[in-house]
Amino acid sequence: MRIDLDPAACGRDTFYRLLTATVVPRPIAWISTTSPDGTDNLAPHSFFTIACVAPPIVQFTSVGRKDSLNNVEETGEFVVNLAPEPLVEQVNATATDFPRGVGEFDAVGVAREPSLRVKPPRVAASPVALECVLHSTVRLGDSTVVFGRVVHAAVQESVLSDGHPEITRLAPLSRLGKDEWGTVGEVREIARIRYADWPEGS
Ligand SMILES: Cc1cc2nc3c(=O)[nH]c(=O)nc-3n(C[C@H](O)[C@H](O)[C@H](O)COP(=O)(O)O)c2cc1C
Repeated sequence: MRIDLDPAACGRDTFYRLLTATVVPRPIAWISTTSPDGTDNLAPHSFFTIACVAPPIVQFTSVGRKDSLNNVEETGEFVVNLAPEPLVEQVNATATDFPRGVGEFDAVGVAREPSLRVKPPRVAASPVALECVLHSTVRLGDSTVVFGRVVHAAVQESVLSDGHPEITRLAPLSRLGKDEWGTVGEVREIARIRYADWPEGS
């Protein structure tokens, strides 16, 4: 037995809660930007994924107009910092609705380091930072999808194993429904099956 839900009848907030509790776990892009007057801004965005492989393009969605979106549109640059488990309190604190002009790096006390190719700084303690230039934006209803071309990736050596990021060293946080956060649980490895190897008759 299932419950049927019509988005038009549910209302925006009810359906939003259903979607965010259903599309889980979501990786968190901890987005750093710099305003035109030089304020360094930092905010988590869990509507985040890879949009294109070549060229490398990532995307995040701003629900409504926020400082991160304004800064990206006005300066054309941002950094996606991976949000690691030990920093969960700081990541959460940077989602506080500080007024524009208050930079979360300073307000929360997050250590930064200069980026190589863009003006917004990286989060110093984040294991991976993707420096991006704005590719394009798409307005969808109350939200704006931001596409950024990755022009540089900075990876902490300590998270690499055989030159490849290792999941338990990255320890990425994820966003679940409500105020829930996820951490990496059991990791399984299963090889993709090629059709040539598909068991006949099964
Ligand atoms: C884990 C987490 C994920 C979030 N994901 C998003 C998101 O994908 N899009 C969004 O617009 N806001 C998201 N938020 C809320 C923003 O981080 C929050 O509105 C923040 O104040 C925006 O900051 P800004 O105005 O400096 O850009 C999220 C908050 C948390 C705690």
